[in-house]
Amino acid sequence: MDRQGSDQDSVTLEDYSPVCVGQEADLKKLERKTAMVHNREVVVFYHKGEFHAMDNRCYHAGGPLHLGEIEDFNGQSCIVCPWHKYKITLATGEGLYQSIDPKNPAAVPEWCSKGVKQRIHVVTVKNGNVYVTLSDTSIAYDSDYYASEKYKQLLISKMLKQGSA
Ligand code: FES
Repeated sequence: MDRQGSDQDSVTLEDYSPVCVGQEADLKKLERKTAMVHNREVVVFYHKGEFHAMDNRCYHAGGPLHLGEIEDFNGQSCIVCPWHKYKITLATGEGLYQSIDPKNPAAVPEWCSKGVKQRIHVVTVKNGNVYVTLSDTSIAYDSDYYASEKYKQLLISKMLKQGSA
C-alpha cells in the first residue's frame, strides 16, 4: 500500500497560510475541535493551558483522534486513539510504546518512542482567535496517507458501497 498518499496531492503556498479554526474562549471551553485546514482534517486540543494541532486520522489505521482520551505517559500528554489504543504525544506527534525485555520478564516495562508518526501543525492565537498553519508536507509522516485524497476517495467509495448494499 502506498502510505505516502500526500505525495500525489498538490500543495501550494496558499496551503501554508494560517486558517482561523475558532475563538480562543470557545476552544478553551470545548478543549477539542476538528476543523478543515486547506482541505486537511485536523484536530485542535486545548490541554494543560496549551493548544496543540495534529492530523485527525491516526497514523496506524485512520482512527478518529478527536474521540480519544488524553492521558499522561512517561510525563508526556498523549492522545490515545479510540480504535487500537495507540498513544501519540500531543506536543510532537511521536508514537509511544512500552518495551519489555523478554530475557527479564520481571523488569518494569520502559516507555519508548517510535519517532514522529502523526503530523502536528502550528497553532497561533491572535486577537482572541485561534489559527492553524499546516506543517511542511515535503517531510512525510505516516499520518499523511489518512489525510490524502486517495484515502478520502477510498472512504467515499466504501460509504457508497454500504449505502447500496
Ligand atoms: Fe489508531 Fe489503530 S487506528 S490505534
